Amino acid sequence: MRKILVTSALPYANAPLHIGHIVEYTQTDIWARFQKMRGNECWYICADDSHGTPIMLHARQKGITPEELIAAMSEEHQADFRDFRVGFDNYHSTHSEENRECAELIYERNLAAGHITSRKIVQAYDPEEKMFLPDRFIKGECPKCGAADQYGDNCEVCGATYSPTELKNSYSVVSGAKPVEKESEHYFFKLADFEDMLREWTRGGHLQPEVANKLDEWFEAGLREWDISRDAPYFGFEIPGHPGKYFYVWLDAPIGYMASFKNFCGKKGLDFDEFWAAGAETELYHFIGKDIIYFHALFWPAMLDGAGFRKPITIHAHGFLTVDGQKMSKSRGSFIKARTYLDNLNPEYLRYYFAVKLGSGVDDIDLNLEDFVQRVNSDLVGKVVNIASRCAGFISKRFGGRLSESLSEPELFKTFTDASESIAEHYEKREFSRAVREIMALADKANQYIDEKQPWVVAK
Ligand code: MSP
Ligand code: ZN
Repeated sequence: MRKILVTSALPYANAPLHIGHIVEYTQTDIWARFQKMRGNECWYICADDSHGTPIMLHARQKGITPEELIAAMSEEHQADFRDFRVGFDNYHSTHSEENRECAELIYERNLAAGHITSRKIVQAYDPEEKMFLPDRFIKGECPKCGAADQYGDNCEVCGATYSPTELKNSYSVVSGAKPVEKESEHYFFKLADFEDMLREWTRGGHLQPEVANKLDEWFEAGLREWDISRDAPYFGFEIPGHPGKYFYVWLDAPIGYMASFKNFCGKKGLDFDEFWAAGAETELYHFIGKDIIYFHALFWPAMLDGAGFRKPITIHAHGFLTVDGQKMSKSRGSFIKARTYLDNLNPEYLRYYFAVKLGSGVDDIDLNLEDFVQRVNSDLVGKVVNIASRCAGFISKRFGGRLSESLSEPELFKTFTDASESIAEHYEKREFSRAVREIMALADKANQYIDEKQPWVVAK
């Protein structure tokens, strides 16, 4: 029996889930269910990612505390997950005592090993709100094309990228004040200390080949020190020994995987170290979207390594969901919240459609609405469900609810049972579209058999 810990990325406690998120949680849930059905010990763990400036400001805007905001959001997320039948074994929060403990431990061990450094940096500062401004919270005119109301790091009109100091007539999105430059002490994680380990690890079969290739580009560009601190006001954990300095949300976010598992161990009496100690023989899998590979395939293994913990066996990245070939967009009306979908349609339809579309690669997947209707009607309802619904009818009406003692075509039955290993292999390799294809071919065979035998005629 294998022992497997599997995670999906932790959704931000800042916004409701949309159906793009559901791609990932469906993908992971299918895989975790498969492992459980095979008799493996498999735990599927997740949590809300509850820290950071956007959450702090969002709460302020609503006139509530960040704690109140994240509690409400966590409930909403969990209701969406439950209704999409995503079967987490544990759902926790990064704003938890377990996470504070784990984050401090990982930080302190890396500090003791010399992997943390500090220096002063200059950043944009809102003099009215008395806070440093992340790029997303500064707007102004594009230095290249002059378009108004562009974000601090790139122009949506001409595509230019720049630093927020280059924006003309810049202003703070929080207060409208003109940002000033201000110096402050920041703490950095020395990623380059781990270059040899990372080069080996990223080529060690833990990543999809296209992801490993992408990482080569990042190695070429050089592994820069990672800024892991943010100044107050911030919603997060204060860095031990540095009042007014907080861990950057992305430092404690992946540690949330550990923390949620730790919380689960407390409830279940499982052994935390069996899954996280260096040299652990259990399996650790992270399912993530392609936008957060850098954090998971470089920073995360390095932090774990530096703190003497095990590294993941596999990081599995998926592509992004488009709707009718385009990025979901609120203005075009193609932005579909998970709850909106659930209010209107059966969750199994979307789970099935995503399974049809999902392979082991990082290609984007498209929800083509016409194709969706077609596949649900013809495959799911017309083939698979059809077998159960028509058989249930005549078995109960004509045969008193009893099945035959022998098989009329043992050979045919054997083609079904023989297929199980190859279907299982597709699931294992996250080739769900192949698994579905094989299952549908069998469903066709079953329907053909029923058509040929016409048991309702035989019954007469
Ligand atoms: N909080 C971070 C993850 C921290 S993990 C330690 C985050 N949150 S998120 O809410 O923005 O995204 C959660 C997951 O959903 C990510 O893996 C992300 O890639 C995925 N997706 C978000 N939008 C998506 C699509 N449109 N399509 C497919 N997956 C998408 O990132
Ligand atoms: Zn521009």
